[in-house]
Amino acid sequence: MRLLAFGGWGQLGTDLARACQGRHELVRPRRGEADVTDPGAVRRVVGEVRPEVVINAAAFHKVEACESDPAAAFGVNAVGAWTVARAAAERGARSVYVSTDYVFDGAGEAGYLETDSPRPINVYGVTKAAGERLVELGAPGALVVRASGLFGHAGSSGKGGNFVESMLAMASRGEAISVVDDRTFSPTSSHDLAHRLLLLLESGRGSGIYHLVNAGSCSWFELAGAIFGIAGVEADLSPRASRPEEVPRPRCSVLLDTRSEAAGLPPAPSWRDALRRYLTERKPRADRMVTSPDRQG
Ligand SMILES: NC(=O)c1ccc[n+]([C@@H]2O[C@H](COP(=O)([O-])OP(=O)(O)OC[C@H]3O[C@@H](n4cnc5c(N)ncnc54)[C@H](OP(=O)(O)O)[C@@H]3O)[C@@H](O)[C@H]2O)c1
Repeated sequence: MRLLAFGGWGQLGTDLARACQGRHELVRPRRGEADVTDPGAVRRVVGEVRPEVVINAAAFHKVEACESDPAAAFGVNAVGAWTVARAAAERGARSVYVSTDYVFDGAGEAGYLETDSPRPINVYGVTKAAGERLVELGAPGALVVRASGLFGHAGSSGKGGNFVESMLAMASRGEAISVVDDRTFSPTSSHDLAHRLLLLLESGRGSGIYHLVNAGSCSWFELAGAIFGIAGVEADLSPRASRPEEVPRPRCSVLLDTRSEAAGLPPAPSWRDALRRYLTERKPRADRMVTSPDRQG
């Protein structure tokens, strides 16, 4: 297949490129070449590349920045999503929009099915829920793939790193680390997401919403404990509650994957297994991007 990815140089895009090696051709324009907020540039690139599949992994997803600049967040996550989906549909290419667990309010404790109605509680979630809907309207038959708490070796460029690296960096500096234990989610390896998304595309079967997360769930505090446990790192780790002054985030945004098996995908590996692989493959690097533990999700 010939694929085109917007936002293809980020955390997920980097793993998508690796997953495509030897299997598919993946074209990844830089943001400067094809900003999703520029319809002319998007249409031009889609026209030049003539892809069979267009994956939109571009996002404005710093949760605090979305609250303070909703217009910019809507521009990328919603209007940009429409722009990409329309350009793909006009050329007869299949559309994939990467979305998030933050489309849900997190009030329940059972987790969310693909069929549950979005009810976001912060600006980022609203813009992604709008993006999902616009993609479905602009490109009928599109795939909407939701993920949650991504970690990959490239680190999220939009957030400035990933949680695993943040934890390890803080521990190496001997800092006291407090992490929320009242928010539960489905940690997801961008490596596993990329491979499972390609399997879904290769099957030619999927459309609509998929939850392509790793199996299982945990709180951010439990995830931090698992990182230190598996890495064999001593850390001064303690749990804390979410603070009222923080941007609201869903309490339980566990994504239940009830559709991928019917599309022929193998069962998703557990998040612990994915984390173990990540830590085994990880090479310590002085220049790794690091983000605050308060700024996750
Ligand atoms: N990271 C998570 O924890 C998480 C969780 C759930 C869902 N998701 C979703 O997963 C997807 C991929 O996330 P990620 O972690 O790979 O993010 P990422 O590392 O921040 O990558 C996003 C990419 O989008 C590009 N981009 C941003 N604005 C753009 C624009 N206006 N036009 C074109 N490209 C633009 C960025 O380019 P620059 O670096 O040049 O700005 C970057 O290459 C996103 O849709 C996100 O909403 C992420």
